[in-house]
Amino acid sequence: MASQQVQPKLVIHGGAGSSLHSKGGIEAVRKSLYDVLEEVYPLLKDGASAVDAVVRGCQLLEDDPRFNAGTGSVVQSDGQIRMSASLMDGLMQRFSGAINVSRVQHPIELAQFLQHSDDRVLSDFGSAELLRELQLPIYDPMTDLRLHEWMQERQGNFSKAMADVVAEPAGMGTIGVVALDVHGRLAAGTSTGGKGFERIGRVSDSAMPAGNYAAQSAAVSCTGIGEHIMDECLAARIVIRVTDGLSLKAAFERSFTEADERQRDFGAIGIDASGAIAFGKTSEVILGAFHNGMEMGDTLEMSKGTLIFIA
Ligand code: GLY
Repeated sequence: MASQQVQPKLVIHGGAGSSLHSKGGIEAVRKSLYDVLEEVYPLLKDGASAVDAVVRGCQLLEDDPRFNAGTGSVVQSDGQIRMSASLMDGLMQRFSGAINVSRVQHPIELAQFLQHSDDRVLSDFGSAELLRELQLPIYDPMTDLRLHEWMQERQGNFSKAMADVVAEPAGMGTIGVVALDVHGRLAAGTSTGGKGFERIGRVSDSAMPAGNYAAQSAAVSCTGIGEHIMDECLAARIVIRVTDGLSLKAAFERSFTEADERQRDFGAIGIDASGAIAFGKTSEVILGAFHNGMEMGDTLEMSKGTLIFIA
């Protein structure tokens, strides 16, 4: 761990997809993302750990019904919401997560608790037991919009591959936060309602190292079609490439070039130990934003197609 203080960095995302129309347009999404940066970046400046900043950022994004995590999560084929979240502490290289949990406001809080547990990834039943043990209040994350989407799809016999999470005609939503704190520690968190209309028991990449991974060298959170992210083992792949000596930019470029060749549909955000920030996508848009200590910026108006962007 670095002994000298470093400039903290913060990068977040609210999903990836093919357009922003169903989210209220660019300015509305930008405001949602910048509100989170404006609350969380000062915490990092004041000395909060990367892990604590990531948890707070995830809670705020989970509370925003625009995004498919926590409140506003999409509905599965049986009309239920099941959410998944994970947290990885880069300094300790320690992963924790909860899979397919219901009736909780902030799934990331389960992952936070599990960081210090012997058993660090829980599935639905175990997550429900843990909610009871932690006495977290019962919370219904359903919104009218998500219920309406589900009822429409039921009329169409669930012919859509997934919900309009970000975009029309189909989109993929997830939220993610990656932080570098003043001590040079990295962390990543990711939370999702899944892809919507999926089969009961489907497991999202968001609570796997494929979708959320951190080490001392770099930290990455992914969004997009979970099955594609798993097939590429994207977050771990990028982080391990940086650990093995590639720059963050080169690791994103190589991983997204490979992904593009295989017609993957996803995006990722990352920070390395030097403070470099990266966004990558094969989707049309990634709803990404960053605070680098001097300014905030975002990827909302970045060109269509594959993109690597370093801030
Ligand atoms: N990336 C979110 C999901 O596919 O569940």
